[in-house]
Amino acid sequence: MMNYLEKYAGQVVLVTGGAGAIGSNLVRALAVAGAQVIVLDDLSSAERWNVPSLPGILFVEGDVLDEVKLKRVFFERPKIVYHLAAFFANQNSVDHPERDLMVNGMGTLRLLEYSVFTGVERFLYASSGCSIYGSNAPFPLKEEFMSMHLSTPYQVTKMLGELYCNFFHNHHALKVVKPRFFNSYGPGEVPGQYRNVIPNFIYWAMKGQPLPLTGTGEETRDFTYVGDIVDALLRAGIMESAVGQEFNLASGAETRILDLAEMINEATGNKAGIRFAQRRKWDTKSRLLASVDHARDLIGYNPNTSFDQGLKHTIQWFHENCDRIEASARFGPGISSAVREMEKAT
Ligand SMILES: NC(=O)c1ccc[n+]([C@@H]2O[C@H](COP(=O)([O-])OP(=O)(O)OC[C@H]3O[C@@H](n4cnc5c(N)ncnc54)[C@H](O)[C@@H]3O)[C@@H](O)[C@H]2O)c1
Repeated sequence: MMNYLEKYAGQVVLVTGGAGAIGSNLVRALAVAGAQVIVLDDLSSAERWNVPSLPGILFVEGDVLDEVKLKRVFFERPKIVYHLAAFFANQNSVDHPERDLMVNGMGTLRLLEYSVFTGVERFLYASSGCSIYGSNAPFPLKEEFMSMHLSTPYQVTKMLGELYCNFFHNHHALKVVKPRFFNSYGPGEVPGQYRNVIPNFIYWAMKGQPLPLTGTGEETRDFTYVGDIVDALLRAGIMESAVGQEFNLASGAETRILDLAEMINEATGNKAGIRFAQRRKWDTKSRLLASVDHARDLIGYNPNTSFDQGLKHTIQWFHENCDRIEASARFGPGISSAVREMEKAT
């Protein structure tokens, strides 16, 4: 297989959302591979300290809807665009549906337009496999399934982004790639009210609090280590076989939320156990399990980080950054039902 990493040396690459959980890991990998990386991030759900301090990284603080900032970053003439900035995620979009549509819908459209106008050679859109298959798809989830019955504005706008990518591919011949992520976890994700279950469980466990299960605990998710996602993104940014394609980036294995909570309590020495909280109304997926065959065939995707190993790296990152994480963790007044339940209990 070609050495795709070598192809990044000297390339100008734009990463929107590059201060975020996945973006910060991607930015580091690109910089290490010798790319000139431009990061556009408004820090609305991320921290400046999360952007790696490495040579070759230009950080531009700004909104994907801000014309001045868009002109600034496209002035650098990126050849590859990774569009990861998004209004994240389900509960946030239920609470703020208009902002969700602006950032995920209009923001994606603006990025696509600037990419066409400035001759970008590859546009990678961070789609969401957890979102776009709906709740009634057969398992394992495969790329060809479609649902018109999605349960949150975020799910709708993540699909909308893919549809816009298809339009720009078909109409403007923009070389788009649409990786569909599943439940990413790993170093770089700061916990918070609207964040994913793994960083929040680790955070609460390290504080000795019981972990809230918003359901029965029997629910499963297909947790994917961020390093495996980043490796796939680097492949997909170079390999011709990825162009025009959508493909799942998952681990291909299910983990029960109850088992996850027990593993985290065990690994952090948390004796407070678990507690049951109200299921969120939009949370209609009792299982998530994806097929990764298509990604394997197209780009040689190989998610080989075991869940144990990935969790260990994540907890280690929490230990190494505990002061910064503590200062940055955003748990607001408790709009999220899981947080509300936690607050009632303390
Ligand atoms: N994390 C997952 O499990 C997962 C699953 C499926 C899809 N995705 C998608 O992958 C991408 C990255 O996810 P993540 O987990 O790193 O999320 P994240 O929230 O950590 O990163 C998104 C980044 O975008 C920035 N941002 C938000 N609005 C912006 C705006 N208007 N202008 C500029 N920057 C803005 C945030 O500050 C943040 O740094 C997102 O598009 C998300 O929808 C993530």
